Amino acid sequence: MSDTVLDVHISPERLLEDLRADVRQGLTASPKWLSPKWFYDAAGSELFEKITELPEYYPTRTERALIEAHAYDIAERTDAAILVELGSGSSEKTRLLLAAGVKHGSLHKYVPQDVSPSALTGAIEQISQEFPALQLQGIVSDFTDTLQNLPADGRRTIAFLGGTLGNLIPEERAEFLSDIGGALVSDEFLLLGVGLVIDPDVLVPAYDDAAGVTASFNANVLSVLNTRLGADFDPAKFAHVALWNSEDEWIEMRLRATEAHHVSIADLGLDIDFEAGEELRTEISAKFRREGIERELVDAGFGIDEFWTDPQDRFALILARRS
Ligand code: SAH
Ligand code: AVI
Repeated sequence: MSDTVLDVHISPERLLEDLRADVRQGLTASPKWLSPKWFYDAAGSELFEKITELPEYYPTRTERALIEAHAYDIAERTDAAILVELGSGSSEKTRLLLAAGVKHGSLHKYVPQDVSPSALTGAIEQISQEFPALQLQGIVSDFTDTLQNLPADGRRTIAFLGGTLGNLIPEERAEFLSDIGGALVSDEFLLLGVGLVIDPDVLVPAYDDAAGVTASFNANVLSVLNTRLGADFDPAKFAHVALWNSEDEWIEMRLRATEAHHVSIADLGLDIDFEAGEELRTEISAKFRREGIERELVDAGFGIDEFWTDPQDRFALILARRS
């Protein structure tokens, strides 16, 4: 069994406070919105894993193939002793990086970080069995509020995979990338996976699959509000919407009220009205162009060492070096 620690940097009470503040702000705004961070209770994390296996959801398998092809090269170039992964979820693809880092001989510690304790503990359990020689330090926290406390007892690479960067709104994204730049020292690396702008006929079905798994994932945020805030959302009164916003170049997931109704959120003493057809935005998933994301990384203090893409140019795995 490996040397394993789980650090909880955000207490359940603090998380609940953040949820309350976010929900009050987002559901009293016009148009209404919620942060995608709230999808990921245990059920939401499991639904996300199901999404990654859907035929329509190309990002995970495309990124996995890129990691598989370049894992050893990444291990050699980064020479990392510590791999920190933000929003690590199941860490499924990361095992390829861990195996390569161990084979290369430099890697001794893996630090998965996620807001979902269930995803994190599941991943740590499996990785501790598979990589008994690695030190494991799980961190339960919000990744936008974590970077000042990273371990520094060796050369680090930060991985941020899956396209999760695209779930941040552009202002949050710029601040977050600059915080990552600020957390690393010269010649440490960021390994970033992002979705690229592609044909909406491929993109939209990835967020609106035939089996309805993404619709369940989307509606799960209402169950989270019911459970954690004593709300009385009826998920049956909302339809899943996924659309391509060609101006902002992002997918938007929304929940559309199928009839006019009223929802109360007991813990906030808040009553919310939905008109028939009114939409609540639950996620953006921005897609990138090479020149745009490279510019954002340079602005955040990085140079681009590699920009790997798949043969269909759907996804990019970027190795960025802190200047
Ligand atoms: N990196 C994995 C998982 C992607 S799903 C992959 O590539 O498959 C997005 C993950 O980010 C989820 O596990 C979710 O719990 C986590 N997450 C979302 N918002 C977060 C936040 N603000 N802080 C920390 N983790 C977050
Ligand atoms: C985690 N994130 C990168 C996923 C995405 O593709 O934006 C979340 C997701 N939403 C719907 N399907 C998957």
